[in-house]
Amino acid sequence: MCGIVGYVGEKQCTDILVGALQKLEYRGYDSAGIAVFSNDRIKTIKAKGKIAEGLIERLKSEGPYAATTGIGHTRWATHGEPSDINSHPIGNGRVCIVHNGIIENYRKVKEFLTDKGYGFESETDTETVAKLLDYNYSGNPLDTIIKTIADIEGAYALGIIFREHKEHIYAVRKESPLIVGKGEGEMFIASDVTAIIEHTKEYYLLEQGEIADITKDGVKFYDVHKNPIEKEIQVADWDVSAAEKGGYAHFMLKEITEQPTALKNTIHPRIKDGMPDFTECCLTDDKLRKYHHIYIVGCGSAMHAGIVGKYVIESLARTPVIVDIASEFKYRSPLLTPDDLVVIISQSGETADTKAALKLANDIGADTLAIVNVVGSSIAREAKMVMYTLAGPEISVCSTKAYMVQAAFMYLLAFRVAYARSRIDEATCKQLVAEMLEIPAKVQSCVDNQEQYQKVASRLISADSLLYIGRGLDYALSMEGSLKLKEISYIHSESYAAGELKHGTISLIDEGMPVIAVATQGNLLDKTLSNVKEVKSRGATVVLVCKEDMDISGCGVDYPVYLPVARDLLMPLVAVVPLQLIAYYTAVLKNCDVDHPRNLAKSVTVE
Ligand code: G6P
Repeated sequence: MCGIVGYVGEKQCTDILVGALQKLEYRGYDSAGIAVFSNDRIKTIKAKGKIAEGLIERLKSEGPYAATTGIGHTRWATHGEPSDINSHPIGNGRVCIVHNGIIENYRKVKEFLTDKGYGFESETDTETVAKLLDYNYSGNPLDTIIKTIADIEGAYALGIIFREHKEHIYAVRKESPLIVGKGEGEMFIASDVTAIIEHTKEYYLLEQGEIADITKDGVKFYDVHKNPIEKEIQVADWDVSAAEKGGYAHFMLKEITEQPTALKNTIHPRIKDGMPDFTECCLTDDKLRKYHHIYIVGCGSAMHAGIVGKYVIESLARTPVIVDIASEFKYRSPLLTPDDLVVIISQSGETADTKAALKLANDIGADTLAIVNVVGSSIAREAKMVMYTLAGPEISVCSTKAYMVQAAFMYLLAFRVAYARSRIDEATCKQLVAEMLEIPAKVQSCVDNQEQYQKVASRLISADSLLYIGRGLDYALSMEGSLKLKEISYIHSESYAAGELKHGTISLIDEGMPVIAVATQGNLLDKTLSNVKEVKSRGATVVLVCKEDMDISGCGVDYPVYLPVARDLLMPLVAVVPLQLIAYYTAVLKNCDVDHPRNLAKSVTVE
């Protein structure tokens, strides 16, 4: 959601900025723009729509700009519709900014500035910051920024240029992420490393309230009192190929295919002597014994991974687990105490609601464990304990490999909690771990068997709406299946506990409505098959995802999808793959923009 880039160096920067913005497309956006110093003036070029059709076309028609310093932005509209005028960069001839976040007191600032004679062109909150910077401008950018941020509330990462300081970019952040990239005779700013990885792997993480003054030769960091700050350089441990499609039609397909490797990378380092090991984050058995409750909080697919976690932890460890949608957690006054553990799950580590939930948990004094994919992200830094999922960059908006490794972490945690609380002995724990280690191969076999998913997808494309049903862990998984389908194919779908159908939802079933039933849990198979028969007899077309050794004869399934066999408890890790691929092929057949679904953002940095 909103991406920021900036370049200062010796090279012509227009293409560099546009290229970096394209790398941030995955975050979700509806307009894009750049501002560069051209002939000592700030020249802004921006356009609604995709970069390729909007910004690049405009750059072609307006002619090349010779410039070696500039900032750029992809905007995901919050205040004001997507339009040229609301796009960033925003400013006047003297100061120009790009912004990620939301200025909460923008109305007050706008009133103040209107009284001072300022006019406003856009509907954005961002314009108030640009104008306030202009109002406060004293000739000294650092003083101007410090004075300005004292008067703005909310979340922001800002890239700022001043006409009179054309060899500098300034950056400041609160809540929204921003990094400063270090090259040879060139420097960058970016919302994340993906934008600049083709230029440099070295970067600094800008912390809350810090200000960066960047020139081609380096960067100086200051706090809000203008005290200089020393910072350690970070080095990305992946390279440009990880963030490229590598011959796949879409990032989503590439990332689904990467799941066996992602699983191995995440699980293996956390197994010591055959046991799950959490010592890297100091989560000891003593702690695990003492917690009264475990809360698991996240958004979207991360929250769905948490639901799988609840089923698995409760069934193995008999410890109460509460799963919360992050945006609800904060406002429902959870009965959280310092004796509880809060597990925060987030791929990006920057999701605003999830960050707010973490803050609440920290404030209450609970132990907080972040399970995060992006190294050095806000959630990783703010939680008391952090374990990284090692899935590599996930570019497609629709989460697949990140969900997979988050769910895998839930299992490792469940095994360890159960062991620490003497619910399972060491031999059982090791047996569970050993079976977990076989899951990547089973995932691989699902990935290799794509024909059957394409067949199902070709049946789904004509549907207006469909249902996913399941019981127990299959119900937990069907939530993720339903989310995948609706977010990328735009077909309405709902997941439903199969046993609850009869209490209302079954009235939706009519001739030909597709129902995707997930039935991987042996003890629930007969019950789910009864539900399958119920929908079948009312005209539904049924896709049944089940283990290959299950007897499903006699229930009239239209499209059986068979899975390699694993222990019931572990089946969600296998069964999610067909659900991902069914969603993927449905979206492909419908010609949807698979990696950039409409209205969605990869990293949702506003509440
Ligand atoms: C967005 C993405 C989802 C993701 C959710 C949580 O909605 O589109 O794929 O699951 O945010 O993101 P996080 O980075 O916190 O896991």
